[in-house]
Amino acid sequence: MITKTMQDAINEQIKNEFYSAYLYLAMSAYFNASNLPGFAGWMRKQSQEEQGHALKLLDYLEDQQAQVVLKAIEPPPAEFKGPADVWQQTLEHEQKVTKMIHGLYELALKENDYATQTMLQWFITEQVEEEKTASLILEQVKRVGESGTALFFIDRHVGKMREE
Ligand SMILES: [Fe+2]
Ligand SMILES: [Fe+2]
Repeated sequence: MITKTMQDAINEQIKNEFYSAYLYLAMSAYFNASNLPGFAGWMRKQSQEEQGHALKLLDYLEDQQAQVVLKAIEPPPAEFKGPADVWQQTLEHEQKVTKMIHGLYELALKENDYATQTMLQWFITEQVEEEKTASLILEQVKRVGESGTALFFIDRHVGKMREE
């Protein structure tokens, strides 16, 4: 059993995770249109991963017999200024999501909601990975600049990073 406040906050985060999925799908399309298929593939996988995050939270609400309320998802941007801009926005977006997850955890602490605290620990760890990966790729893209051969090598490398 979780409180209505906690339930509302988790429903809000389900929407936020779907927005992340939408944002990364938009970035994937942008990269494909820019002839950067490696970055595009990474973003497509990340979009799927974000849907997984949303479903993890949704499953948790169901397990707690709480009500799932799906909200409208804002449209993501369709235009970006270049590869570095996209990776910069990715990092900033993940930093924002980290704050959201921490906010949820603080709420769970305030409510002495131990089950939700435990569930959120997975997300806290995941956010460390998300920020680390986004900042690593951003630094590489910034270092080589936005055109030239080196960018195509990074693109290929990033594409291979998450080929299963
Ligand atoms: Fe996420
Ligand atoms: Fe991840």
